[in-house]
Amino acid sequence: TLQGDQPPPVLPQDATRVVTLEQRYLNLPVKTGAPLRRMIVTVAGKPPREFDIELADGEPDWWAFMDVSSFTGQLATIKVSKTRQDSNGLRSIDQSDEIKGAQNLYRETLRPQFHFSSRRGWNNDPNGLVFYQGEYHLFYQHNPYGWSWGNMHWGHATSTDLIHWKELPAALYPDEHGTMFSGSAVVDWNNTAGFQTGEEKPLICIFTAAGSPFSQGLAFSNDRGRVWNKYANNPVLPHVAGENRDPKVVWYQPEKKWLMALYLEGNTYGLFTSSDLKKWEKMSEITIADTTECPEFFEIPLDGHRGETRWVFYGGNGHYLVGSFDGRKFTAESGPQPLHLGNSWYASQTFNDIPREDGRRILIPWGTFATPGMSFNQMMGIPVELRLRETSDGLRLLAYPVKELESLRAQAPYLLRAQPLLPGENPLAGVKGDLLDIVAELAIGQATELGFNLRGVPVTYDVATQQLGVKDQSATLKRVDGKIRLRLLVDRTSIEVFGNDGLLYLTLGTIVSGHDHSVGVYAKGGAATIDVLEVSELKSAWPP
Ligand code: FRU
Repeated sequence: TLQGDQPPPVLPQDATRVVTLEQRYLNLPVKTGAPLRRMIVTVAGKPPREFDIELADGEPDWWAFMDVSSFTGQLATIKVSKTRQDSNGLRSIDQSDEIKGAQNLYRETLRPQFHFSSRRGWNNDPNGLVFYQGEYHLFYQHNPYGWSWGNMHWGHATSTDLIHWKELPAALYPDEHGTMFSGSAVVDWNNTAGFQTGEEKPLICIFTAAGSPFSQGLAFSNDRGRVWNKYANNPVLPHVAGENRDPKVVWYQPEKKWLMALYLEGNTYGLFTSSDLKKWEKMSEITIADTTECPEFFEIPLDGHRGETRWVFYGGNGHYLVGSFDGRKFTAESGPQPLHLGNSWYASQTFNDIPREDGRRILIPWGTFATPGMSFNQMMGIPVELRLRETSDGLRLLAYPVKELESLRAQAPYLLRAQPLLPGENPLAGVKGDLLDIVAELAIGQATELGFNLRGVPVTYDVATQQLGVKDQSATLKRVDGKIRLRLLVDRTSIEVFGNDGLLYLTLGTIVSGHDHSVGVYAKGGAATIDVLEVSELKSAWPP
């Protein structure tokens, strides 16, 4: 070579192993930080499963699993790029019927105990939130094979009460159109797409395939979301602009047609319509300053105005517009306003097809908070019910934890009678707790500052500025008739604060100390009054 006599480095070639699939899971050793290898698992006659993995050559941090139960009895060829044939990583791949190394599943130190997180790997956005036949479906952006973002699949979990979730096998795998980015799901009650084969109504996911370029596709299920088929003629909406993505589809009853909100590029979104989910026509555009990705678009009743509704539009950061929709075009009347404040919530989505008798608009956000050292990463926020209310500052969305959360409250909450709260005193001094759900109504009186200690995390209310702070995050909470009302939720890696019935929605991703179980309430500068104070310990939502 021109450089001298050194021979070019010899890169290892691809290495291959063939195994007979006999058990439910193929276990793959992961070492976070190891070089990324491309792994391709092929079973004859099936689309290959292809992904990047930090394959552990030495002691793994944790074992990723691939559910191969639908291939039992067949041969699988496992190919790994740039790896020696005798590599320990490839050799140590094995099979089991239980997830390997999961004896402690859901009891890991940083595992959220009443919030959803994936058993293994990474999760980001909630996707495809839909209710059908008594089940809430939560799909989500998922890397099954790594602690960090990558290999986007749609993970899947179901619940009958929004609190106890059961994780199912991944619903959508990357395919020839790309990895599976965010999107939504609908029940096709009128079989408009023609996918129905039996008695069940089809569930249809509308997702982004993040190939080059990004396009929008469909997958459907005729068995209540257990088996998923990709539509053969994907994409249904070919590339429109930029990295267009994250289709949110809803049914528009007045004109019996589908609507799709889609992120286009810059701060711009498109509204599209379709009669069958397969052919889409663009109707209009919406721009929201400083906002990208993950559109939400829904109609919501206006509290206290029987029969009156508004439409809400927001993007990934939750900055929402309130306005009207005429079937083609959304016209904003107010906003943008932040739906949530704090350091962690993003890309929230609301459920489609909640039954009319229930009528709630229920939202789940992604809790963008890292769980170092764990075999999983990130979480979902607690599901909240949204309401739209006329306030002295204009139309505002209120968010409040769904009532189902109360089923986790331990038998006897710690209840304080109405009483003065004097400087220097802590009426909760005798209380210790782990997972907490606190309801408080405090009259400010002469105090200049009020607050709580939640296992070492301070919640402070500065009376002069009306700022409610949680650790380093803060937001305005106006007192009403000299009082503030708070709902505080404490889990292993999050604190959620709902002020004045959810007018303030302030959340904090934080690692709550494993050792400090203290709880406190205090006033400074003068006496306040406790009108209501109930401290409930919550049970874990995970099986014992
Ligand atoms: C938002 C987002 C989406 C995209 C997905 C990829 O967090 O960037 O726009 O579809 O995540 O995982």
